[in-house]
Amino acid sequence: MEQYFIKGGNPLKGTVDICGAKNAALALIAAAILTQEPVVISNLPDVSDINLLLDAIAQIGAVVERIDRHKVKIIGATVHSCVLNYEYISKIRASYYLLGSLLGRFHQAEVAMPGGCVIGARPIDQHIKGFEALGAVVDLEDGQIKARADALTGNHIYFDVVSVGATINVMLAAVLADGNTIIENPAKEPHVVDLANMLNSMGAHIRGAGTDVIRIRGVKSLHKTDYTVIPDQIEAGTFLFAGAATGGDVTVNNVIPKHLESITAKLEDIGCFIEEYDEAVRVVAGPQLHGTQVKTLPYPGFPTDMQPQMTVALTVSEGISTVTESIFENRFKYAGELARMGARIKIEANTAIITGVKHLKGAQVSAPDLRAGAALTIAGLAAQGVTQVGGVEYIQRGYEDFDVKLRSLGADIRKIDPADQEAIEQFRQKCS
Ligand code: UD1
Repeated sequence: MEQYFIKGGNPLKGTVDICGAKNAALALIAAAILTQEPVVISNLPDVSDINLLLDAIAQIGAVVERIDRHKVKIIGATVHSCVLNYEYISKIRASYYLLGSLLGRFHQAEVAMPGGCVIGARPIDQHIKGFEALGAVVDLEDGQIKARADALTGNHIYFDVVSVGATINVMLAAVLADGNTIIENPAKEPHVVDLANMLNSMGAHIRGAGTDVIRIRGVKSLHKTDYTVIPDQIEAGTFLFAGAATGGDVTVNNVIPKHLESITAKLEDIGCFIEEYDEAVRVVAGPQLHGTQVKTLPYPGFPTDMQPQMTVALTVSEGISTVTESIFENRFKYAGELARMGARIKIEANTAIITGVKHLKGAQVSAPDLRAGAALTIAGLAAQGVTQVGGVEYIQRGYEDFDVKLRSLGADIRKIDPADQEAIEQFRQKCS
């Protein structure tokens, strides 16, 4: 398995184009099989999570036609099975969205319990509560979730916790149900709104996505659409923090600045300068970053998916910072790796206490999950010396051409197979 080899110390400078949002695209792909007509999705990121979900819908019979690297045509008319093979499900968590869309369209679905990043227990009780409220019977047998309904009928659903996945899954199941569904306490993330927009463009009747109450009036069928995925706020935020942590000047292009507000607010807090344009945001690192406090929250709060990247920036910011993780209980697994790079970081319950150091130092580290992998890469870019980041396959689940984009900003980063001693030697010689 290839690893990133990074020679740190270059301030990142320049402009980078941001891809479509992975987490939105996953929901849109599941939504595409709610209709028999063709659905074209553009601005799709070319990352492994997306490609696996496309493989999964092809496996149950959908026609998946790649128009180009970022555009796909999906025809759901030929779907012939409501049973998802474990091989696909165990790799991506969001394959459970097929539960919602298959249940919505065929009134039955069987999907293995999901995999994905191991950042906490990640129960799915709220998804099940929502399906049951619509009239489905849901059983868990041998690691399979089996949902079945004679008919789906709209209902009033109050989520006990704010869940992106449960909100999306229940929307997928409810659009074709009889009558009205009201979802209270839903997630308000941009990708929830993006899903509602695409479903509405297919003839659904969804109002209130992005607010405290989503109202869905069931329709008999959905039709074709041609839809473009929103930009990825997390990919954008990752490059902004890479700019900040390396003392650089980075502009992220093709973004919706409004979606980045909680991120840019924290960058300003630690001493960066932010400029906003219509479709771009620029960060310029101040001469000295300083510490702050941050707590992850559901949107529009600071995203848990930006927590590791923010923590890395704080390891090289003057003073003492705290980062409190309130969404997932096991999301500081990378802290030990950062400590190996000289970070002064202590975890107490769900809070990281960080004392800023002048420089991190290169080391061999391993990514425990997707966002932590991106964060350790940023740490390597900010560090003195050479860093080797293992677990690149996690990073590729959610970042398209991460190393290529970083190189375009001036980073010294190469993806090398650790067995390729010659390539490693060449990289080290170039660095010395
Ligand atoms: C999605 C995102 C993920 C992001 C997370 C939080 C996708 C594919 N993934 O994950 O990148 O980190 O939102 O913004 O979009 N919970 C329950 N019961 C449930 C469902 C969730 O207790 O039935 C809890 C979870 O354990 C967690 C919290 O609710 O503590 C939020 O989880 P949720 O929003 O559902 O995350 P995901 O949809 O899995």
